[in-house]
Amino acid sequence: MKNREQWIFPGMPVLSLLRAQPGSISVLERFGVDPWLEPHAQLETICAAKGIPWGDLEIELKSISTRRIDSDWDGLSLPMLLNHLVLDHADILDSMLPAIRMALTRASGRGIAPGRLAYIATAWPAFTADLAAHMQEEEVFLFPRLLQYDHCVRHGGRHPDFNAGSVKVFIALRMLGNEHKQMDALKKFLSDWRAIPQSGAVESDAERSLHDLLEEFQKRLETHSRIEETVLFPRGTALEKMLYDRAISGSASVMLPVTASTR
Ligand SMILES: [Fe+2]
Ligand SMILES: [Fe+2]
Repeated sequence: MKNREQWIFPGMPVLSLLRAQPGSISVLERFGVDPWLEPHAQLETICAAKGIPWGDLEIELKSISTRRIDSDWDGLSLPMLLNHLVLDHADILDSMLPAIRMALTRASGRGIAPGRLAYIATAWPAFTADLAAHMQEEEVFLFPRLLQYDHCVRHGGRHPDFNAGSVKVFIALRMLGNEHKQMDALKKFLSDWRAIPQSGAVESDAERSLHDLLEEFQKRLETHSRIEETVLFPRGTALEKMLYDRAISGSASVMLPVTASTR
């Protein structure tokens, strides 16, 4: 997995930090920083304005990045759930996919039927490009928006950002369709791969180990999508509804003008 600790540096804008490591919001709040007041401000500027020693903040932020969670998704705070999903994206994109690519390169010409290799060479890059684009869309738009909603709900509805459309519609139109499309594409990929005649009477070691890697990847992606569909998306739409209801009823304690865009 790529070490995301190296991404935290004094000149980093707050919004970039929250995209790379959503769990950081709890640290910022502990230091008395409202991240949505100036999301494009650099961390060192905020430290200087608040009198926070950079080293103190850095230690706390780095302790978040190493935290991994294996279960009890429902019991997680929204920031830590998003944190896990972003770490999972990094692990899938920076570790699992390169491992599969390396296995393919190593196996090339060593026991894998040419038809199967040719199929992977054409189908795999397109699939992984779609997957990376989907994850980027989540990290750049959806996750920061949900993080902001969660912050607003916990702090009496301050500056929710309803610009750029509803996350309910975004999830329904963009996310759910993509989750299903990816899983269908991966299943089709694996069944097409199996349908192409193998190299010999029995599957070769190279074919078997590649197949094992692809199946492990499928399980990993299924778990990731299930967490998003059954835990994150329902919580996100419920948060949005709560904020809309508050805005309509006028019950938000403070409704400041929108100052923070997550775009
Ligand atoms: Fe995701
Ligand atoms: Fe997703």
